[in-house]
Amino acid sequence: MNLYSALRPLIFRLDPETAHNLAFWLGARVCSWPRLPDPELPATLRRSAFGLAFPTPLGLAAGLDKGATLLPLWKALGFGHVEIGTVTPRPQPGNPRPRLFRFPEAGLILNRMGFNSEGAGIVAARLRNRPADLIVGGNLGKNKETPEAQALDDYRAAYRLIAPQVDYTALNVSSPNTPGLRDLQAPEALKPLLAGMLDLRREMGLERQPLLLKLAPDLAPEDLDAIVEVAVASGISGLIATNTTLDRGVVEEPLRAQVESKGAGGLSGVPLQAKAREVRRRILTALRGRLPLVACGGLGSAEDVQGALDDGAALAQIYSALIFEGPALIQRIHEGLI
Ligand SMILES: Cc1cc2nc3c(=O)[nH]c(=O)nc-3n(C[C@H](O)[C@H](O)[C@H](O)COP(=O)(O)O)c2cc1C
Repeated sequence: MNLYSALRPLIFRLDPETAHNLAFWLGARVCSWPRLPDPELPATLRRSAFGLAFPTPLGLAAGLDKGATLLPLWKALGFGHVEIGTVTPRPQPGNPRPRLFRFPEAGLILNRMGFNSEGAGIVAARLRNRPADLIVGGNLGKNKETPEAQALDDYRAAYRLIAPQVDYTALNVSSPNTPGLRDLQAPEALKPLLAGMLDLRREMGLERQPLLLKLAPDLAPEDLDAIVEVAVASGISGLIATNTTLDRGVVEEPLRAQVESKGAGGLSGVPLQAKAREVRRRILTALRGRLPLVACGGLGSAEDVQGALDDGAALAQIYSALIFEGPALIQRIHEGLI
């Protein structure tokens, strides 16, 4: 039994956000150690995607380290890449608490954080001291009060500050917790958004830096096909699928009623797995290899990650499983992949 499993009953007795803040406080102490171990990853794990060389296909999904505060720790734990954010251009508090709920018996998390963000200025400043040889992605969003019609201005404002400090950027148009955000996935909204971002990337001389788009699992199959065509035609570098789901149908009864009683938010973890995989397979079929896909959603074991890679994904990201299984999961996944 590892330390995390031993402590889990205590950790899980805390309110989830308190536990998160405590873990980040501890993590920050660890990051201040002068010499953190360098993970030894065999060459067989290496992958390249959208022009970047990754030491392993396994990365940390967006939303856990929103402010890029624990990058040395994630690197020491063995992640090949970390997607920080979602970062909004201006600071905002996110939704009122409680806004994070866990259901350990189902490996399920419900969140309606609503992009709590220190803002792109503070996060960009922190990124100036980021560790080298860890691939860092900057996941960007818009502020809540920004009308959808001005969403592009927000993504551009965040990009201007964050992009120069990271290895790739990802546009988050798929969080269910910012009203109207997911409407940006509609092809007629997506086209000008992607074109506007690629223009800015060129203006900033960052043409070689990958720009990805992160999608929701709640899109109809035909909509996914249409989005894929828009993405490919736009010239962006790849897709990430998926974000959390609004679909309460992924949860078995009798837990479903309990989840519903907690109110709005996106679901992640084990119950999202089948749905996210189905969506990824549809995307991969539509893509026909024209762009790489980063798999995310319900992945929790080496078998899951290998399954996603076998389906055709270039990389894989985890979040919820890490909360339930602890940091030892990263090495277990690597051992299984090897
Ligand atoms: C508490 C929480 C906060 C999240 N915040 C973000 C976010 O800010 N931006 C984003 O793109 N995804 C966010 N996500 C979604 C995750 O990146 C991931 O897409 C989703 O949880 C599915 O992966 P999983 O089943 O491995 O958790 C969040 C997920 C959770 C559980």
